[in-house]
Amino acid sequence: MAKFMFLLLMLGTFSLMFFQVQATVCMVCKSFKRGHCLMGKSNCTTQYSPGCRTRNFFIFSQTDGWVHNHTELDCSEGCYAENMYFGNLKTSTFCCKGEDFCNRYHGQIVKKDIF
Ligand SMILES: *[C@@H]1O[C@H](CO)[C@@H](O)[C@H](O)[C@H]1NC(C)=O
Ligand SMILES: *[C@@H]1O[C@H](CO)[C@@H](O)[C@H](O)[C@H]1NC(C)=O
Repeated sequence: MAKFMFLLLMLGTFSLMFFQVQATVCMVCKSFKRGHCLMGKSNCTTQYSPGCRTRNFFIFSQTDGWVHNHTELDCSEGCYAENMYFGNLKTSTFCCKGEDFCNRYHGQIVKKDIF
């Protein structure tokens, strides 16, 4: 019985270590522009497989097409890499993991989107 309890304890310790290794620290930012966080800078930790989330927001203009407005960085349990359209608003989502603060590198750097 004691042997069984010990095994259970070891299993618990190992799974805890495993999850700590898997966790990625992500940057949180409400408004991220040109590599800098202008509003609501923080961080979060995610253990979920899609990892850190980067959402680029674009607004459609008649003269310039899709123009980058701002980028939001956070953690999401369900991060899906996709483009979504809401009328003249578009969001382009990226997910990353395995490197702390990796989501800051997916923010739109150039002003205009290629689409
Ligand atoms: C995460 O943010 C907290 C404050 O919200 C700060 O104390 C901590 O140092 C940050 N962690 C990292 C790894 O930057
Ligand atoms: C565009 O960015 C500004 C901050 O720079 C923000 O206040 C505004 O809500 C954004 N517009 C949209 C449609 O997301």
